[in-house]
Amino acid sequence: MSKLTLQSTYTLLGDAGVEMPVLGFGVYKSPADVTERSVTTALKTGYRHIDSAQYYENEAEVGHAVRAWCAETHSSRRDVFVTTKIIFPSETPEETLASLRESVRKINLDGYVDCFLIHTPTSGPAGRKHLWEALKTLRSEGKVVTIGVSNFGVKHLGELIDAGETPAVNQIELHPWCQQRPIVELCKKHGIVLQAYCPIVRGEHADDPDVLEIAKKHKVDWSQVLLRWSLQKGFVPLPKSDTPKRIESNADLYGFELDEEDMKILDGKDQGAKGAVAPNPVDCE
Ligand SMILES: NC(=O)c1ccc[n+]([C@@H]2O[C@H](COP(=O)([O-])OP(=O)(O)OC[C@H]3O[C@@H](n4cnc5c(N)ncnc54)[C@H](OP(=O)(O)O)[C@@H]3O)[C@@H](O)[C@H]2O)c1
Repeated sequence: MSKLTLQSTYTLLGDAGVEMPVLGFGVYKSPADVTERSVTTALKTGYRHIDSAQYYENEAEVGHAVRAWCAETHSSRRDVFVTTKIIFPSETPEETLASLRESVRKINLDGYVDCFLIHTPTSGPAGRKHLWEALKTLRSEGKVVTIGVSNFGVKHLGELIDAGETPAVNQIELHPWCQQRPIVELCKKHGIVLQAYCPIVRGEHADDPDVLEIAKKHKVDWSQVLLRWSLQKGFVPLPKSDTPKRIESNADLYGFELDEEDMKILDGKDQGAKGAVAPNPVDCE
């Protein structure tokens, strides 16, 4: 593994070698009136990848923060990678496309977003196909650069791959207690980048004695241990915080490295589906 930095990126499949920053910033449950401030803090800290969704109801605030930061720092819009997601298809393909275009309009960053994901596989085989086709149309219009999926299990991903399609990204819950090894292996085999949501498990294992011991050894905190584990597994962690000090510490991950023994201890914590903290639809029809 080459040395990771806050500037590290992964090259995504297809879509003309798009680079995605390896550390992302999540905004789920960030109230709209706080999101702008948090995203601004994240950009000032050095994050260059923001993860939103229609469901989070803060797409416009994300776009506003990115625009303001670009203007203030004379940066290019291209320096920031912005993702959003759609959950359900509408009645008709045209209506679904209108919903996708509306997200792009709300985010309002030079008329395009970097990545659009199918948020969950829960709309069934026909719904997933409908959403995928709409995303491809949006891409052909130049309103999104790269497209992918989220919460897709082996069956859902297999369906796409069998149809000759490969999403650039699969965003799933990933941390030591929920490692989802079958879908991780399938994604790795096909070069699909894994984005890790709930990378610090919403704080649920903040008192884990092994994690605290590893943290003490490296003079970091428990959340940095979990984020570093995610980076060293080759995932793209998306920590969320509305607390400025945490936004900063969650990006301060490059001055230490977990050793083999640390990784083995954390790898040993997998509890399968029981270890998930979010509703996990990877097994749905
Ligand atoms: N695709 C999907 O279905 C899906 C599902 C869930 C999440 N996601 C994405 O993944 C992102 C991350 O997941 P998540 O927000 O559910 O969980 P998370 O990032 O594991 O945890 C966020 C929680 O931990 C707290 N926190 C953050 N940094 C901390 C630190 N250093 N020390 C102590 N507490 C800390 C935050 O509180 P404060 O904000 O108060 O600091 C917040 O309550 C989301 O924001 C979203 O972008 C996607």
